[in-house]
Amino acid sequence: MRLLVLGGSVFVSRAVAEEGVRRGHDVTCANRGTSGSVPRGARLVVWDRTRPTPAELRDEYDAVVDVARLPSWTRSAVAALPSAHWVFVSTVNVYPDPHPPGGTPATLALHEPLPDDVDLASSPEAYGPMKVACEEIVQAGAASATVVRPGLIVGPGDPTGRFTYWPVRLADGGRALAGGEPTDHLQVIDVRDLAAWIVACAESRRVGVYDGVGEVLPVATILEAVAQGVGASLDLTWVPDGALTEIGVQPWSGPEGLPLWLPRPEYDGMASHDPTPSYDAGLVLRPIADTARDTLAWVRATSGSTVTGISREREAEVLARWGGR
Ligand SMILES: NC(=O)c1ccc[n+]([C@@H]2O[C@H](COP(=O)([O-])OP(=O)(O)OC[C@H]3O[C@@H](n4cnc5c(N)ncnc54)[C@H](OP(=O)(O)O)[C@@H]3O)[C@@H](O)[C@H]2O)c1
Repeated sequence: MRLLVLGGSVFVSRAVAEEGVRRGHDVTCANRGTSGSVPRGARLVVWDRTRPTPAELRDEYDAVVDVARLPSWTRSAVAALPSAHWVFVSTVNVYPDPHPPGGTPATLALHEPLPDDVDLASSPEAYGPMKVACEEIVQAGAASATVVRPGLIVGPGDPTGRFTYWPVRLADGGRALAGGEPTDHLQVIDVRDLAAWIVACAESRRVGVYDGVGEVLPVATILEAVAQGVGASLDLTWVPDGALTEIGVQPWSGPEGLPLWLPRPEYDGMASHDPTPSYDAGLVLRPIADTARDTLAWVRATSGSTVTGISREREAEVLARWGGR
């Protein structure tokens, strides 16, 4: 298969290119060449998507994988490469929050599409609506299309450092701060499992819309698996949503945020999509312990790897305030 990956040098799109090479496909990546290297065995076409499509990218690919956030990028690429099967990497943020747990693409409503490009740094709320527009552009203009809407993508190479916080934190040992209730549900998907499924969808020219999500599990079970993966024992202090908010801890991400903590019930739906249709379409997940082990190994082996989340000093302060109540 001649596979074109729009991107290919960062996290998801890089994992897709790597998987394509691993399966023996003829892989081309198109990017500006500024964020990193493409996998060994893949070819790079230098292209800034704010510029016209280069003549070198002719409409001769069997499949295209795109991770764009801006509708104009997807529009021009689909117009230039309409004959391929497209796999568009979207997001579960196409569903407005809150939405009911156990949802699937067949049951959940979408944001209104936003067909114009908006600066995400100043208007992050445009992310989901622009992804809806990108999905529509791909579905209308490509020969055939798979749309994959991932939830939290984790594993080696993650530039957000969100999940990465936990293997690193638990490997450090000691009493750790956990947010919300141990029974809150969450799901994660290893980037390598997502990539393998995306390439399989390209190979089979699968037509449909799927959530790219993992098994729905209590957060406590996920953290137990992380601890097991990094060979650590687990000593968690759970601080409820209200108390964390009162203390000023940010949920989910950010430099002093608490990763994997999502306030409830607002994000119950976002954190627990039904993965059954995706399993039925070929998605296979590895154990979370393996993801945690490999993520920690990646952090230790890679200078400049990103770990975000609450500092140890702030964590100790929050635990002391909670304990003193
Ligand atoms: N992380 C999550 O948990 C999560 C959850 C749901 C959905 N998603 C989706 O997953 C996808 C992540 O994709 P990703 O990991 O590959 O990272 P990405 O940041 O979406 O894309 C990075 C790739 O795009 C290239 N690129 C950036 N600007 C470019 C430009 N102007 N022209 C051409 N290429 C450009 C980069 O290379 P250069 O900079 O060198 O050009 C790089 O290869 C996104 O679609 C995101 O919406 C992520």
